[in-house]
Amino acid sequence: MALTTNYLGLKLKNPLIASASSLNSRLDNIRRLEDAGVGAIVLPSVFQEQIEAEADEVSCRVDAYAESSPEAQSYFSGAIANPYGMGPDSYLNLVRRARAAVGVPVIASLNGSSRAGWTDFARLIEQAGASALELNMYHVPTDLLESGQVIEARYSEIVEAVCGTVALPVAVKLTPYLSSIGHFAEQLVGRGAAGLVLFNRLLEPDIDLLRMKLTDRLDLSEPEEMRLPMLWIAILSGRTKASLAASTGVSDVDGVVKYLLAGADAVMTTSALLRHGVGYMSTLVDGLRTWMEEREIASLDDMRGMMSWLRSRDQSVYSRANYIRILGHYAAP
Ligand SMILES: Cc1cc2nc3c(=O)[nH]c(=O)nc-3n(C[C@H](O)[C@H](O)[C@H](O)COP(=O)(O)O)c2cc1C
Repeated sequence: MALTTNYLGLKLKNPLIASASSLNSRLDNIRRLEDAGVGAIVLPSVFQEQIEAEADEVSCRVDAYAESSPEAQSYFSGAIANPYGMGPDSYLNLVRRARAAVGVPVIASLNGSSRAGWTDFARLIEQAGASALELNMYHVPTDLLESGQVIEARYSEIVEAVCGTVALPVAVKLTPYLSSIGHFAEQLVGRGAAGLVLFNRLLEPDIDLLRMKLTDRLDLSEPEEMRLPMLWIAILSGRTKASLAASTGVSDVDGVVKYLLAGADAVMTTSALLRHGVGYMSTLVDGLRTWMEEREIASLDDMRGMMSWLRSRDQSVYSRANYIRILGHYAAP
């Protein structure tokens, strides 16, 4: 039984990856994930805002000011610039310590969205010993004058800048809000991306009607949210040279299996680990092995992409034709 998979040119003992989250900022969790059989671990992100704040000469002057001003102190060491209580130096330290602590690949995560010198930080991450780098360009295009073309060009430039800085394999955590995901994915591969993570989960605000204000609570994902990444993994599988990692909505082993059948090289999870604890990773890995054994599937290669667009006998299931069919079949009360 071979659960091994190739992700970003790294050989993983199985396709399960603990995706980026605060959970993976603690060495004890990182070790427990390895004990539970994880294939690889993505560290939480280091953010452009943190890197720039540290690099900015002005921040030195502000520091001096901050000593005498509690407001400035709390602003510059605040939650926005430093969500995990880690500055860039402690991030590099985390990369070093995580690599020393476990044998599985440790993927660092660099998070930023505008062009600037912060992408050079990728080199320090490489020097700290990361096995690969995930790039998250979380951006909400609130500027109505900025076109999709301009935004995509900027994303591509960032990817090129990062890929040009390091020899490490780079995966891009994609947003699903693009007009042609497959085309853009290929652009990124052309700029050097070795892998794509589908998708980044945007955290939309809600409205609290009692207090009449916006709220920004983080809700963990639900299994239904798998459908969108699964669709795009199925459409891309076998048609791009990039590795494909599925992210969002895995709650049990069925979710893992579905993503693999769609064509994922790796399957990531955070919400399930936050809900059930890091030990739940072993339930997913063991469950995948059992699922394959029961069906006498000898290796992941034998099942990966079986339900992809490329290998589907009825590709219309993935297209507009199916949309029309589904609407027609729905029995309204
Ligand atoms: C508490 C928490 C912290 C997260 N931190 C990061 C982060 O630092 N960088 C990042 O790229 N994604 C981050 N994510 C997103 C996850 O990596 C993942 O993409 C998302 O939760 C969807 O996967 P899931 O459905 O398995 O939870 C975070 C998610 C949660 C719940």
